[in-house]
Amino acid sequence: MVPADSFREDVIAGLSQPHKALPPKYFYDAEGSRLFERICRLPEYYPTRAELALTRAHCADIARFAGRGCELIEYGSGASLKTRLLLRALRPSVYVPVDISQAALAGAAQRLSREFSWLHIFAVVGDFSQPLRLPVFRARDGRRRVVYFPGSTIGNLDIEEAQAFLSMSRAQVGTGGAMLIGVDLKKDATLLHAAYNDAKGVTARFNLNLLRRINRELDADFDLRRFRHYAYYNASLGRVEMHLVSLARQAVRIGRHRFAFERGETIHTENSCKYSVEEFRALAAQAGFRGAKLWQDRQGLFALHGLVAA
Ligand code: SAH
Ligand code: AVI
Repeated sequence: MVPADSFREDVIAGLSQPHKALPPKYFYDAEGSRLFERICRLPEYYPTRAELALTRAHCADIARFAGRGCELIEYGSGASLKTRLLLRALRPSVYVPVDISQAALAGAAQRLSREFSWLHIFAVVGDFSQPLRLPVFRARDGRRRVVYFPGSTIGNLDIEEAQAFLSMSRAQVGTGGAMLIGVDLKKDATLLHAAYNDAKGVTARFNLNLLRRINRELDADFDLRRFRHYAYYNASLGRVEMHLVSLARQAVRIGRHRFAFERGETIHTENSCKYSVEEFRALAAQAGFRGAKLWQDRQGLFALHGLVAA
C-alpha cells in the first residue's frame, strides 16, 4: 500500500503546480481497480482484447522465448488476466505479481492459487516507481528471471520514469534475463478518442474516482459535479491525455490547504503514451535491452516485445 503521507504530499505538490497534475498511480484504490477491469471489457477499449489475442495466438512462441521454469515477475499485475495464459505455457518456478493496489493483488492471488495449485505465488504490494527490493529466489537454483509488464502501463510513465523503470528491470533480470512488455502502438486518433471516451462513461468515472478518493482519504471537499472528464490524443506528443476540467470558478479544500480553480482549468491526471516499434526499441536499448522478438496484430493496434538483457 502507498503510505498515506506520500499520497497527501503528492496531491498537495501536484495541485500546487502552475499546471495542476496528479500521478496516475493513485487511480487504483479498490474502486479504481474495479473500474479499470470494467474498462478492459468495454467495446471501445481495444488494448486489452488486442493483447489477449496476441498472447493467446503466440503463447507457445512466447514460452520458448521466456523459457519454461523461469522466475516470473509481473509489474502492475492488477487482475493478472493475461498472465493466466502465460502461466499455463511457462510453468514458472515462482510468480511474483507486484501492484500498488492491495485489493487487486489480493483478489488475483486468491483466484490464481485456486486455478494453479502447483504455482508458488509471492505477491508484493509495492510501487514500481520507487526502488523496490524483491525476494531473491534465483540465488537458490540459478533460474532465469523474466519481467512481465503487460497492458501498456509503460505508457502511463513519462520518458524519464520509463527509462528508470526499464533500467530497474534490467538490473533485476541480470545479463541473459528477459522482459516481455506490452506496448500500445500509435494509431488513428478516432480510435484512440473512442477508447478513452467510452459511451457508457466508465472511463469518466475512473477519472473522477480519483477526486472521490482524495475526499475520502485526505479530508477534502471536491464537488464531483463541478468537474468533468476530458481525454484527447495529443498527436505532437504521441499520447492520450486525461484531464479533469473545472466547470466553474471554485475553491477546494484538502485538509488545511486550499486550491483555487478557474473555470475551464484542468487537473492533468494521466498520459497514455503510444510508441512505434522503433521508438520503443530505442528506449529499451538505452536501458540495456535488445529487441529479440516482436508479436503484433495485423491491424497494427498493439505490440508485445520480447527483450533480452544485453
Ligand atoms: N496488467 C494489467 C493491469 C493494467 S492497469 C493489464 O494489463 O490489464 C495498471 C496496473 O498497474 C493497475 O493494477 C495498478 O494498480 C498498477 N500500478 C499503477 N501504477 C503503479 C505503480 N507505480 N506501482 C505498482 N503498481 C502500479
Ligand atoms: C493502465 N493503463 C495502461 C491504461 C491506459 O490505457 O493508459 C489506463 C486507462 N486510462 C484510461 N483508460 C485506461
